[in-house]
Amino acid sequence: MSQTLKAVRGTRDLLPPETALWNRIEATARDVFARYNFGEIRTPIFEETALFARGVGEETDIVSKEMYTWEDGERFDRQALVDAWRRAHAKESFEEEEWASPGEGVAKLACTFDEKDFTEIVFFSARADGPLLKVLAEDVLKAEATPRQFNRYAKTIKGRLVIPSPVPGNPESTTEDGIVVEQLHGSFHKSSQSLTLRPENTAGVVRAYIENKLGETGQLQKLYYIGPQFRRERPQKGRYRQFSQIGAEVIGPPSSGSESPLRDAEILEMLATLLDELGITGWTLELNSVGSAADRAHYNETLRAALVPVVSQMCADCQRRAVANPLRVLDCKVPADQSIIDTLPVIADSLDVASRAHFAAVTAALDAAGVPYTLNHRLVRGLDYYTRTTFEFTHGGLGAQNALLGGGRYDGLSEMLGGPRAPGIGFAIGEDRLVLTLLAALDQNSATPQKAEAFIAPLGESLNAAALGLARELRHQGLWIELGEGSFRLKKSFEAADKTARHIVILGEDELKSGILTVKNFSTGIQTKVPRSELAVFLSTPASE
Ligand code: HAM
Repeated sequence: MSQTLKAVRGTRDLLPPETALWNRIEATARDVFARYNFGEIRTPIFEETALFARGVGEETDIVSKEMYTWEDGERFDRQALVDAWRRAHAKESFEEEEWASPGEGVAKLACTFDEKDFTEIVFFSARADGPLLKVLAEDVLKAEATPRQFNRYAKTIKGRLVIPSPVPGNPESTTEDGIVVEQLHGSFHKSSQSLTLRPENTAGVVRAYIENKLGETGQLQKLYYIGPQFRRERPQKGRYRQFSQIGAEVIGPPSSGSESPLRDAEILEMLATLLDELGITGWTLELNSVGSAADRAHYNETLRAALVPVVSQMCADCQRRAVANPLRVLDCKVPADQSIIDTLPVIADSLDVASRAHFAAVTAALDAAGVPYTLNHRLVRGLDYYTRTTFEFTHGGLGAQNALLGGGRYDGLSEMLGGPRAPGIGFAIGEDRLVLTLLAALDQNSATPQKAEAFIAPLGESLNAAALGLARELRHQGLWIELGEGSFRLKKSFEAADKTARHIVILGEDELKSGILTVKNFSTGIQTKVPRSELAVFLSTPASE
């Protein structure tokens, strides 16, 4: 028996009834976003690797360790093979003429060697297969018929096919048709581009903003997205390699008000509203400001200096970060490093006057709106594009992976990606973590599957077609119907119906002829005769229970 295949580590299937919860969350999010005047954006699931390297930052864990990256369109480079073959024969003197290729993907040279009294037609291809060799043999025959076409008149014409070989040594073999197949050692491929499954969506949204010239409208762009992201992290509860984010970005030219602290406060107030409407209680909003790009650079230097005397006692990652990107030291989760990190200078002391004023305006607006928050000066976030406001909503029920969502301002990201000045702010909610939080809060009953309004049980296979007709009629009237199977004994139909529906509708020959159906309500146990024309109303009225 062949081995069963499983979902890849860190990925999983989402099944009913849990998917109903996912749909409810997404519907609520769409509803809230619409009320705040956001529109949906859908960007591709993969992008050029350079987008994330430049946008998210080479030194971040996401880019340096966690991306699913591959070389796309790795193509056979025929010219490289031709050039390598020329180099391999450089000692011999021969005259070559380029000829039209006899087949797709095949290069062809006619070579007349001084030492040999024949002209060789040399073909270059990625591989040698039967049909190709036939085409080449015919091409050689044609050339033999017209030897005078060559610059140097050749009496004998032979064919040679050069193909790449991954192993050293250049073995030759001759086919039945007399074509010499020469294997040339080397790698003759070139890749067209490096691609990556998106580990997050902000860089993609800003790329789309630039590419689609959304800034030229002069308007503030308010965009949301719902979709899968990919990070090669060590899987654990609440942390997956494919996970879903619900996120939003507000971005626009400075003249659209995109830099205003009011935008930050509005986003945070919207998140508080969304979590409340989803029924998530007990969240904490942690807030910080990482200042402008200049403030961050200043803070990085302050940190670098402060780390010099202590870094040798810290973990290997911190030792690397202390040199490359000291800010990332604050992300360290290693318990032994925490007491050292607590003694380091805080970023708030490196902020310039404008960044301080911006942050003060954000917190003042939150106070006015009654959105509670706590300040966390270590919250620098794991992505390099952030400037000024950064935030996370955490939830105690989530355990180690306690960040329900994270976000912040990225005033320089557009320029980093080659775009116009376009300050922005956004967030992404980990939808998987939202589901975990809600599942923990829901009681068992509400997590059990909902039931259909009726199960239609045809009495015998001859009534299957009529049962489909009845199901169609009821479904068109908006009812949720499960269709049974006439080959089932009545007892089996009852058992199946009891599991999936609130009523069973029995359809036998008599019912079909008379148009009066037998309906049993499982919760009351009452059996009723109902005319077909009244069935939809009967099934959907709570009074029938
Ligand atoms: P992030 O903090 O990397 O930010 O991710 C946001 C949220 O995605 C996290 O708080 C967490 O709930 C969820 N998440 C991240 N990794 C995983 C995982 N492996 N498994 C399950 N959930 C996960 C960003 O992605 C930024 N793009 C947010 C943003 C938008 N900033 C500005 N705009």
